[in-house]
Amino acid sequence: MAIRPILTAPDPRLKQISTPVESVDDDVRALMDDMLETMYDAPGIGLAAIQVGVPKRIIVMDIAGPEEEPAPRYFVNPEILDPSEDLTVYQEGCLSVPEFYEEVERPAKCRVKFLDYDGNPQILDAEGLLATCIQHEIDHLNGVLFIDHLSRLKRDRILRKLKKEQRLAAAE
Ligand code: NI
Repeated sequence: MAIRPILTAPDPRLKQISTPVESVDDDVRALMDDMLETMYDAPGIGLAAIQVGVPKRIIVMDIAGPEEEPAPRYFVNPEILDPSEDLTVYQEGCLSVPEFYEEVERPAKCRVKFLDYDGNPQILDAEGLLATCIQHEIDHLNGVLFIDHLSRLKRDRILRKLKKEQRLAAAE
């Protein structure tokens, strides 16, 4: 396993639409292992493959609290089915938008169809933080960041600050 560098906005690669995985083989599992290690190291609760520069429809996630046992989840080719009409608001953050947290409204519940670590088809009914996190990560597979759900004013302000920080970091 290896920790991979995480892309940060406004890196244009984050706007790419990721392609479906044809089969969950050892290469895909090795990528998922790296992604999980990268996510734990960051630390974060979810990571999409495009965030480490791989445009494939793969997500890893672990929403267990700090006092709980680790509970890694793997989603290959995830699809949202039946998003609920009732909405919920969470304060979201993202490893590709470091240090910024904003409220985003999304369907409170959804069903997710995906392939697991072994390539077996699964269906999961998600609500609460799990539902929000899955929707946030699937957005990444479609080239969408949580800041794309904000007003243009807020989004531009965040992107300006991120660009400034990247300039300063590059100058060091
Ligand atoms: Ni994210």
